[in-house]
Amino acid sequence: MKFFLDTANLEEIRRATSYGLVDGVTTNPSLIAKENARDFRAHIAAICELVPGPISVEVTSLDVEGMLREGRDYARIAPNVVIKCPLTRDGLQATRRLTDEGIRVNVTLCFSPAQAILAAKAGAAFISPFIGRLDDVAHNGMQLIAEIVQIYRHYQWKTEVLAASIRHPMHVVEAARLGADIATMPFKVFDQLFNHPLTDRGLELFLADWRKLNQ
Ligand code: E4P
Repeated sequence: MKFFLDTANLEEIRRATSYGLVDGVTTNPSLIAKENARDFRAHIAAICELVPGPISVEVTSLDVEGMLREGRDYARIAPNVVIKCPLTRDGLQATRRLTDEGIRVNVTLCFSPAQAILAAKAGAAFISPFIGRLDDVAHNGMQLIAEIVQIYRHYQWKTEVLAASIRHPMHVVEAARLGADIATMPFKVFDQLFNHPLTDRGLELFLADWRKLNQ
């Protein structure tokens, strides 16, 4: 399973990449807005330099032509930029056209298997089912991951399943168990994956014994 960071915060990206475990980054307009970056393009370029893998940058136009304009423009920032298009009729048309031009697309805001089928057929490089937001409205987000993985396998579609809207470590573990290709997670969740009280306790005991031996 590949790990993407779901953030536009450069410090978080720097900290996480120091472990050598980060394969890419996803951003969205809300995450970008949080950073208050004066120069959007420079900010994206900085992320692209920190992480050599796919960096998703979302379009904000609602019509095909606007999305194409933005997508082509953002794709020029760095070769690892992936364009995020929403799962709308216009978004999928833009996905097909950008893909045909050689620009990779991450189709975002996916909430059903039917939508995921459309995205794969439009040639998306990634499909982003939002687990947490489904859980928030009492739907089973993980069930959606399971269904998409199963459907894509039938046809050997190349679109990678990118589990998104991850809220806690069990979302990552379950998505991995179900065969999602990628999990994109906030820095907090990435950091939580390391923790286990028995590891801390075990280390304490080992070191205490070691100190006794040295005395
Ligand atoms: C995915 O690419 C999105 O940026 C993200 O996972 C949305 O997560 P949220 O529901 O926590 O905002």
